[in-house]
Amino acid sequence: MSRRIIIFFGPPGSGKGTQSDLLATTLKLPVVSAGELLRAEQNAGTKIGKQVSAIIDQGKMAPNDLVFKLVRQRLQGERRGFILDGFPRNLAQAPDLLKLAKPADKIVTIVIEVSDRETKRRIVLRRVCDCGVTYHLHFNPPKKLGRCDNCGNKLYQRRDDTPAVISRRLRDYRRRLPRLLAYLQKHGAVVKINGEQTIKQVQSDITKYVTRNTSRLCRGLTI
Ligand code: AP5
Ligand code: MG
Repeated sequence: MSRRIIIFFGPPGSGKGTQSDLLATTLKLPVVSAGELLRAEQNAGTKIGKQVSAIIDQGKMAPNDLVFKLVRQRLQGERRGFILDGFPRNLAQAPDLLKLAKPADKIVTIVIEVSDRETKRRIVLRRVCDCGVTYHLHFNPPKKLGRCDNCGNKLYQRRDDTPAVISRRLRDYRRRLPRLLAYLQKHGAVVKINGEQTIKQVQSDITKYVTRNTSRLCRGLTI
């Protein structure tokens, strides 16, 4: 059976997490965020968490083999397909994606395009909760200031959301982008979405594209 594998790609703060969660609800597919998996290990203080803690806080890349292990574990037994946020993230991780896929699977990469200026504006006012929900103090605020709508816990800023670390993450993303996209274009479809619209408008563009096109997608198609 052919499954859908949807990969979200985009600079830090472009809305990958926001949009992958929304699409997961629409398509009823599981979403796996490499960053969230790593932060969960970090927060739980596991052996892996201790190994990657300083790396994540500095905006550097966690070891490829370790990230692949976490992603593969999380996807074990998924029969209908899945959504990936932040994996693969470099050319070395790209062949690992194919290890997760079956030959008949349809791979779609969604690139959310947002300028550096806008991503910085978004990240500064981002607040997150340990339960996985993300807010923005202006564009997607919690109902009660500082508290999560979902679980009531206190919201906080990510430790890697400092100006210096954001600049490094952005620089590294721009550097890795061309080669990784060229690889993904060879193995599936790549669509670029204008991320500088409201969350709802971006969601609508993505949903329209995915629902219209996944049934007739074939390897090598580029939009
Ligand atoms: P990761 O957690 O993936 O961070 P990132 O790629 O830098 O992306 P962000 O999570 O910061 O942004 P996002 O695009 O998800 O935006 P969001 O939806 O939150 O990775 C973190 C770290 O983990 C990496 O630096 C690395 O160390 C490690 N790592 C991860 N993957 C790895 C891998 N594969 N290999 C090795 N290491 C890895 O939105 C941002 C804000 O904007 C929110 O406040 C949101 O509410 C708001 N917003 C969203 N959309 C809109 C909109 N359209 N208009 C206005 N506001 C919006
Ligand atoms: Mg994210």
